Amino acid sequence: MNNSFTHTIAVDGPAASGKGTIARRLAQELGYYHLDTGLLYRAVGWLAKDQIDDELACGKIAAGLDPSQLRDPGFVSNLPSESTGELASRVSVYPQVRTALLAFQRKIAILSPGAVLDGRDIGTVVCPDAGKKLFITATIEIRAQRRWKQLISSQTSLTYEQVLHSLQGRDQRDSTRSTAPLKKAADALLIDSSHLTIDEVYARAIGHIRS
Ligand code: DC
Repeated sequence: MNNSFTHTIAVDGPAASGKGTIARRLAQELGYYHLDTGLLYRAVGWLAKDQIDDELACGKIAAGLDPSQLRDPGFVSNLPSESTGELASRVSVYPQVRTALLAFQRKIAILSPGAVLDGRDIGTVVCPDAGKKLFITATIEIRAQRRWKQLISSQTSLTYEQVLHSLQGRDQRDSTRSTAPLKKAADALLIDSSHLTIDEVYARAIGHIRS
């Protein structure tokens, strides 16, 4: 391959599949940049929380998003919760929001020496020419368990059933939206992490990148 996305690694998958952990570790190992694209949608969802049904308003907020806000710990502390994930999923169906966030993602994707981007549509829409692509998934019950454990160690009083219900809603919305739905790229390596440790998933991922 000979294009500017040669050193881009696309890591896609549903919520709580482990893709973020794998993407971060790959970037660290390879000395690449890392962008968690979900954070961009979470930031827009949070900022647009009072206008969530208004596509035009959400699109304007996305267009005006200053990515340096993502370095502000006060702002970023609003983003990990499951309720912000829900807001992110709702604004992510709007084509205007997706278009507004595209250029920034591509700018990061072509940074030298390389970049790992994780999200839902990196291998299909943001960087279809990425040099390597992974699609990491797991059963909904296992993902809900993982997310619930993560959340109870921080701030939540949500039950496992509530987390499961929220993930089901997000999966459904993220994979059925008409613009850039969650979907495995034809040339992505599928890793089902349901019965693998994070080290086993990582071994498959880095093996594929180095192949
Ligand atoms: O990966 P995450 O849970 O932080 O993502 C939050 C929401 O953002 C997710 O439910 C859908 C949306 N999203 C998206 O539509 N496209 C991406 N590339 C990343 C996230």
